[in-house]
Amino acid sequence: MNDKNMTPALEISDLQAWYGESHVLHGVNMRVMPGEVVTLLGRNGAGRTSTMRAIMGLTGARKGSIKVNGVETIDMPTHRIAHLGLGYCPEERGIFASLSCEENLMLPPDLKTGTPGMSVAEIYEMFPNLAERKHSQGTRLSGGEQQMLAVARILRTGAKLLLLDEISEGLAPVIVQALARMIVSLRAKGYTVVMVEQNFRFAAPLADRLYVMEHGQIVEQFGADELEAKMPLLNTLLGV
Ligand SMILES: Nc1ncnc2c1ncn2[C@@H]1O[C@H](COP(=O)(O)OP(=O)(O)O)[C@@H](O)[C@H]1O
Ligand SMILES: [Mg+2]
Repeated sequence: MNDKNMTPALEISDLQAWYGESHVLHGVNMRVMPGEVVTLLGRNGAGRTSTMRAIMGLTGARKGSIKVNGVETIDMPTHRIAHLGLGYCPEERGIFASLSCEENLMLPPDLKTGTPGMSVAEIYEMFPNLAERKHSQGTRLSGGEQQMLAVARILRTGAKLLLLDEISEGLAPVIVQALARMIVSLRAKGYTVVMVEQNFRFAAPLADRLYVMEHGQIVEQFGADELEAKMPLLNTLLGV
């Protein structure tokens, strides 16, 4: 993981992004190695969701460089970026309410990324709750089940680089613990994870490295081993 010669799974250099006239990212730099779990912290409005959307080509204009496994994507449309093996789980989970849990799992296309997506059987092994609820309608699932389904759906596509936006938001502590176990298990399976979080206590223990964003820029980055020393600074930046 510390091999300097390894190609990063994601390398963002001087990324700027706009929504129409509104300039929201002002030179973001990030580098994520294959198999790493990285968290992107920041206060509301810091630009974390915009960073994920910019990676997926979902903002307006973008400038700078975003390399996925060494491939430049700054001029690519969203569908081509996704085919490089990126899976984006947005804040709004997008579960189809009228479909059953299992039907939601059957929807995603195989992105043909070179690694096949997880089978439904593998998904049920990883998320036993979803197996129990497979015939339940989307609207009948709890918030935690919907969140697991949203992540599971991405795993079906064969994506290996996961962009997860505030997955713990609004969920009960016991569900947040289950999500933490899910992240640990994804890491063990070799997935690369970028997590946007407000919930510092959830994200910090899971992350190999932490980034802090403010006003559309990265203002701090450090490894898990420096977390304790950085706590006073994080307190100032995030109020944690
Ligand atoms: N669709 C949009 N159009 C215009 N401005 C937006 C849009 N979405 C977000 N912004 C602005 O971009 C900035 C960053 O927002 P966002 O990326 O959502 O922050 P975070 O996810 O860290 O809370 C904020 O000032 C926000 O108001
Ligand atoms: Mg956000």
